[in-house]
Amino acid sequence: MSKTWTPDSWRSKPIQQVPDYPDAEAVKAVESTLATYPPLVFAGEARKLRKQLARVAEGEGFLLQGGDCAEAFVEHHPDNIRDFFRVFLQMAAVLTFAAASPVVKVGRIAGQFAKPRSSPTETVDGVELPSYRGDIINDTEFTAESRIPDPQRMVMAYRQSAATLNLLRAFAQGGYANLDHVQQWTMDFLKDSPQGPRYRELAERITEAMAFMRACGVDPSTTEALRSTDFFTSHEALLLGYEQAFTRVDSTTGMHYATSGHMLWIGDRTRQLDHAHVEFFRGIENPVGLKCGPSLTPDELLRLIDVLNPENEAGRLTLITRFGADRVFDHLPGLVKAVKREGYKVLWSCDPMHGNVVKAANGYKTRPFERILKEVESFFAVHRSEGTYPGGIHVEMTGKNVTECTGGAHAISEDDLSDRYHTVCDPRLNADQALELAFLIADNIKKDRASRQASAIAPY
Ligand code: PEP
Ligand code: CO
Repeated sequence: MSKTWTPDSWRSKPIQQVPDYPDAEAVKAVESTLATYPPLVFAGEARKLRKQLARVAEGEGFLLQGGDCAEAFVEHHPDNIRDFFRVFLQMAAVLTFAAASPVVKVGRIAGQFAKPRSSPTETVDGVELPSYRGDIINDTEFTAESRIPDPQRMVMAYRQSAATLNLLRAFAQGGYANLDHVQQWTMDFLKDSPQGPRYRELAERITEAMAFMRACGVDPSTTEALRSTDFFTSHEALLLGYEQAFTRVDSTTGMHYATSGHMLWIGDRTRQLDHAHVEFFRGIENPVGLKCGPSLTPDELLRLIDVLNPENEAGRLTLITRFGADRVFDHLPGLVKAVKREGYKVLWSCDPMHGNVVKAANGYKTRPFERILKEVESFFAVHRSEGTYPGGIHVEMTGKNVTECTGGAHAISEDDLSDRYHTVCDPRLNADQALELAFLIADNIKKDRASRQASAIAPY
């Protein structure tokens, strides 16, 4: 791998998952225009996130990363953003309070538009067309015309990301995330939700704690951490022409930052060591994620870490593991042992979604909730036995009451999937399932903390 890196050095490498644009000149023109547009995030924010993730990698706190599989132009509505953010805050409240652990909040949002596909084409009723690759590239509609990659979609994705981020910043900083509102985040769905009583009890305890602190002179009007929260954005940086256009030199440090989102990750299909995506990622200073699926060997992982985090800095690299509920014990221990042996500082996070897709009898792509829970439990179990820190969770979720993953307390069946199946890509957890998962994770964190404390005091 050559030492010199430039924002376009990826262009001389082999690349996977590129759209077949009919007009290369039109793509170039759009990319040049985007390069003149304002950045979506500021380098100082990416550095702040890196610092927060460093603490998590060192065993302090937990990373909550989640959002849509793919954002869609037709879903661009303030209610969708608000409902997502509300459930996300509820999950964070469960993790922060029930597990007494600071939570780093990173949405899969405001930029999550490009999708890697397992097949370049899709066949329906004998008709074969190019696959849908995300709204930033082409359209879901199954017609030859809609599936042609259109570079103008990059501009639309940028504008939607900017508007989404604007509202999220307002929610995070403008009062919506104020802990005094923890009761008000109880959305309608919680009224008949099996998670309702558990969440309300937690909200009441938070309210009591706030009253106690207020009596001691600490309240949201005097303490910023109680009235606002840090919320960061992330997406899979798959479409490198778009990412390059938003890669800018930070005037304070002189370093290159991707400014399309705070944290970017490399997908499981594009993590080849000598290919374009790894080349692009090695030169940006943002905190980055690497998806680790069943085909990743410990040796390959070590070489990738060498390239992506040569200074071995905690907070730079998050390993997002996604094997499938039955395969965690076959794959994760080997990776964890190798990383531990080398003394590499990484944050281990669990994506229990992407290894657990199944096709229902009626043709719907779904994910059984019990498999998702099982992958999370297994992730915690492996780290427990290896003595490493399970630091995060990465989920596909929505604030809407969709029926895309089977199971959960409402016992969504395969027959129910057709009721509210809205995703343009992979099936997401609905608000209830997301909250149920948060409670399960909080239980695991509490259990681990208790056993760490017990072993810490054992020698005396
Ligand atoms: C995703 O996170 O949407 C995704 C495609 O994941 P993976 O690269 O792990 O398959
Ligand atoms: Co997905």
